[in-house]
Amino acid sequence: MKFPLPYKLHCGWCGRSHPAEVLQQTCTDCRRPLLARFELNPTLGKKIRERLGSSSNNPHSPHSLWRYSDILPVANPSRAITLGEGGTPLLKAERLGSQFGVKHLWFKDESQNPTGSFKARGMSVAISRAIELGARRFCVPSAGNAAGAAAAYVAQTDCELRVYMPADSGEGFFSECRAFGAEVMMVEGTIATCAHRMEAECSPEEWFDLSTLKEPYRLEGKKTMGFELYEDFGGELPDVILYPTGGGTGLIGMWKAFQEMREMGWLENDDFPRMVSVQTAGCAPIVHAFERGEETAKPIDNPQTAALGLRVPGPIGDFLILRAIRESGGAAVMVTEAEWVEGQGQLARDLGIFASPEGGAALAGLRKILDNEIISGDERIVIFNTGTGFKYPPTTWPTPPPYQGIAA
Ligand SMILES: Cc1ncc(COP(=O)(O)O)c(C=O)c1O
Repeated sequence: MKFPLPYKLHCGWCGRSHPAEVLQQTCTDCRRPLLARFELNPTLGKKIRERLGSSSNNPHSPHSLWRYSDILPVANPSRAITLGEGGTPLLKAERLGSQFGVKHLWFKDESQNPTGSFKARGMSVAISRAIELGARRFCVPSAGNAAGAAAAYVAQTDCELRVYMPADSGEGFFSECRAFGAEVMMVEGTIATCAHRMEAECSPEEWFDLSTLKEPYRLEGKKTMGFELYEDFGGELPDVILYPTGGGTGLIGMWKAFQEMREMGWLENDDFPRMVSVQTAGCAPIVHAFERGEETAKPIDNPQTAALGLRVPGPIGDFLILRAIRESGGAAVMVTEAEWVEGQGQLARDLGIFASPEGGAALAGLRKILDNEIISGDERIVIFNTGTGFKYPPTTWPTPPPYQGIAA
């Protein structure tokens, strides 16, 4: 068997297949997301596990996500565009856990990725694959983190990148993208407004669109969070995962990884983690659709939240997010602005993490699911801090507790 494994592309909505050896965006029939499908079985799964960790399979860093390159859609991983993404720590949070009455609580700290967020995983894989298939000019609408990650990877190449960001994203994101050499377009409005402007200004013949789930390769980078959890837990999976959800790639990607692990025979049973999507009250399309039992989400008019990565009024992958939540027996909950601020403060005070607002929201979501008795305090819970808070506007930084020096 030749590694990396070959894959096919299928539309997640209508099932139509698309050739994998040419650049693809969305389904040409229904314009919904395409997903890569690898033909997996337990014999192959055993071989992949044996190869995991072999130096020939890890050309860059033994801990980076490229250790999973056998099941990533990149033909030549030794030429991947990488900054050592992945391999983030799983932090045991005993002090926080006891405050919540939870015995087994961990944080997967994605802020320790290059450029400070989980977006690095997706961009490394997507840009590597798109370049293999001939892309040279990239564009992306972004609340900030995806743009910063894309800019860093494109900086290693002779390609071009144009990013469209909401004007209220924060100087940290703009300066970062400019430093990496990207062209920065600031747009009044949300990421949806950015996407409209980008579509008007960047023709598909010239530009490869890196928007969330409008190409099939970013998701593949994100799925490695699921593989890592399996390794972090010594060949098992946790009971519950809380993920702050905007476009949904993190949650959908991990759910895809769990299906692939099952096909590879890595799991002894089908007890997958329950996926809990956390959104904010000012922009909660998934929570509303989940509560109404709907298959797709109705876009939010006038979305309002300073957790900018969650200000996604109409995610294109809505049906995939909702499917993952329901199939896993999970839930979707929303938190207020005050609640995520408090969550972010707790992460700073009790875990030493200067988290993004989205990470604060994920922790605040734990209180909701405990109050609603969706989970019990005995379960093994993983919360994702998806990014660092440093690049956000200072008005969203965690509030410091009163200084208490050690008494003389
Ligand atoms: C820090 C952070 N967390 C979470 C999200 C939401 O991620 P997803 O679009 O995968 O749902 C974003 C998206 O911008 C983000 O920047």
